[in-house]
Parts: sequence; C-alpha cells; structure tokens
Amino acid sequence: MRKIAVLGYGTVGSGVVKVLTVNGEKIAERVGESVEVKKVLDLRDFYGDPIQDKITHDYEEIIGDEEIEVVVETMGGVNPAYEFVKKALLAGKSVATSNKALVEAKGGELLEIAREKQVHFLFEASVGGGIPIIRPMLTSLTADEIKEITGILNGTTNYMMTKMFYEDADYDEVLKEAQEKGYAEANPEADVEGHDASRKIAILSSLATGRQVSFEDVYCQGITKVTATDMKYAKELKGTIKLLATAKFKHGKLKAMVAPFFIKKDHPLYSVNDVFNAIFVVGNMVGDTMYYGSGAGKLPTASAVVGDVIDALRNPGRNYIRPWSKEKLVPEDRGTLKW
Ligand code: HSE
Repeated sequence: MRKIAVLGYGTVGSGVVKVLTVNGEKIAERVGESVEVKKVLDLRDFYGDPIQDKITHDYEEIIGDEEIEVVVETMGGVNPAYEFVKKALLAGKSVATSNKALVEAKGGELLEIAREKQVHFLFEASVGGGIPIIRPMLTSLTADEIKEITGILNGTTNYMMTKMFYEDADYDEVLKEAQEKGYAEANPEADVEGHDASRKIAILSSLATGRQVSFEDVYCQGITKVTATDMKYAKELKGTIKLLATAKFKHGKLKAMVAPFFIKKDHPLYSVNDVFNAIFVVGNMVGDTMYYGSGAGKLPTASAVVGDVIDALRNPGRNYIRPWSKEKLVPEDRGTLKW
C-alpha cells in the first residue's frame, strides 16, 4: 500500500479522493500497489463524513509521517501553500498540485528544490483542468522552439460567454451558475477579470522559454465589459466573443495578453463551448498542435492531479522537469493591444 496526503478538502481535494476510490483497482494495477489517502489537512472537521477519520489540523503530522510519499496540494493561493509544499519537498516527499497561483509565483524555485531532493513537483492540473498540456510540452514538444501558445484557458468565462451567446443570458446569472457548478475560483473576480487565465499563460510561457514569466507582465483585460449588445453584433458578423490567452515568443522577446477576442465561425476555437478549454501550441518544426478538454470542474481537475500522483509513485527519483530560471522574461511592449 502506497500512502499519500491531501492538503485542502475542497472541490479538487475531495475530487482526488473520489478518483482514487472509483478507479482504485485500475490505479493499483498501474502503480503496482493500492494507493491510500492517509491524511487530509483541512481547517474543518467534516463530522459524519467518511473522510472525518483522516482529517488533521496539524501539518507536522503529515511532514513527520515517513509512510506518506506524495503530498497533494489543492488549497489554492500562494500562502500558506508555498510553505507547506516547500517543507514537503525538503522532507523528500513528491508534490502534485492544481494551484496555478503557486506554480506561477514559485514554480521555478520549487522545481529547483525538487531536483535537488530527487523528488517530483508536478502541476498538470494547474493549466487546462483535465487537459494534458504540461506533460506534452515537457516531453513530446522538446525538439521544437515554441513560437506561440494561444487558447481558451478559463472554463468559467467560457461557460459564461457560451450562455450569453446561445441563451442571451444575463452576466450575473451565468456567473452564479458557473460558481454553483464549482468551476469558478473562490473569488470569481480572478476568472472574470482574466487573472486566472493570465497565470495559466504565464506558466505555459515559463515552460516554453525556460525563463520566469509573471502574470503581472501579461496584458490583461477580463470579460466584465462584454455586453449582450457586443455579443449580438458578434453574432451578426458570423462570430462570437471568447476570452483568449495568448503568448508569442520571438528572438527572446515575449508578447502576452489575455482579452476578449472576436472569433469567426470558421475558427477552431469558435465551437469550444461551456467549460471546455482548448490550447494551441505552435512549434517551429511541428507546426500547430491543439489540446482540448474539460478546463475546470472537480473530477477532470482531480483526474490530472491523480495522474501526477501515479507518475510520482511509479517513477521515484526520475524527475524530468527542468526548473525555469529566475531571470524574468518581460514583454517588449507591455500595455498595448497592438501586435
Ligand atoms: N476557475 C478556473 C476556471 C478553474 O474556470 O478555469 C480551473 O483552473
């Protein structure tokens, strides 16, 4: 039996427990032994819930437990997640996280620690929910120079824009629905203002270039000013409006932005609807590649986290992610919409 711990029993954390339960047998076959959640760190007690016996309020119980090989971090936010993850790595435990704020801000440093300690710091779920995007960039696309990454990277806003397009729905109503379905961040401002997508494009840009790209350096405009009238005109022009995140890399320079774009009917992103995300990665040898799937939600995101857990358990000591350098890659023309 291989043991793991989960930090944060919210939407994604409880999804991780569910994936490990529902697919327990298959996962055991793949790992070679069954995988058990030994401890769950949360401020709440969950009285009457089957998880109650595993709940701890003391992180030291997890750090000091030598049986726990992998720590899953699904708390969100940089602090205290950063301190907890760093401690876990320094204690020789691998970490799988869905936390894009943590990866964007501290990913380079945490990867460096993981490399020194010969453990894994894995974050497939931090971008695109259940879509495999981090691993392809780190494995299959390493022969290429990445020229561009463009896509729909936020499920909540895509769900909202889809409803506004098909149902002429009201902005506040569709935001509420997205929150109820568990797609939105704890503070949905991060979704609708474009900050969530900025963090995700920053992570992909750091991976593509090997240099730190920060979300503050991505020109960012959310969907809060998109009105029903804008959508009506987009429809009349045989298109729609989507929140896109895009980054282009040329001669060591970066152009990155998140903004609502008019998308014509014949474009592949036009029919990416609801909570789905789609990401183009363009390489100088391979050309266009595209990745599509559920970009948010409990089980798709948890599926990506558990995939990382399985990877860490199956491949101890075989960390393959090169840390990106602390040297920042800043955009050449920050603050302009001109390309
Ligand atoms: N709030 C995020 C989204 C969750 O809607 O895409 C997944 O990162």
